[in-house]
Amino acid sequence: MRPRIPMPAGRPFSFTPDRRAAAERMISSYPSRRAALLPLLWLVQGQEGWISREAIRHAAGILGMTESEVVEAAGFYEMFRFEPACLHRVEACRGLTCAMRGAAGLLRRIEDISGARPGRPSEDGSMEVSEVECLGLCDSAPAVRVDGRPVSDEGGEGLEGAIGGISGWADRRGS
Ligand code: FES
Repeated sequence: MRPRIPMPAGRPFSFTPDRRAAAERMISSYPSRRAALLPLLWLVQGQEGWISREAIRHAAGILGMTESEVVEAAGFYEMFRFEPACLHRVEACRGLTCAMRGAAGLLRRIEDISGARPGRPSEDGSMEVSEVECLGLCDSAPAVRVDGRPVSDEGGEGLEGAIGGISGWADRRGS
């Protein structure tokens, strides 16, 4: 389990009517409400982009769990975010195929270009880098996504272009 989940306070949270209806449909397919915890948290994260303290409270209420039970279970899973996302996100695959094809070196380049590294956003707080498991892009390993788009690093310029070309970002870094 993660040693600590920051989970800062966010805005008041409740599901949109559509999501609440989807949540109830999904919960009804599980043997108990509690068993639907993980997919419910996916719905939360899908709505807000992260899981705040208020969202945990809301999910716990829906499932009939305590907030600490939800936090304890959710903390095992790296796919959940407990802090607001940065504006821009670079995902570097560390899966086996990518690891064998230079993922570590590529991550160092990403850090150099972006000024961010896993666990530490860029100085202006607008860009984050995370290592993720297989992105499903093994054919182009080592694989990277920038703001959700796969980026080809062929020729060594794709990455610089994709990260540096993010609107306004390169200027803010003074490049
Ligand atoms: S292992 Fe990296 S994309 Fe599949």
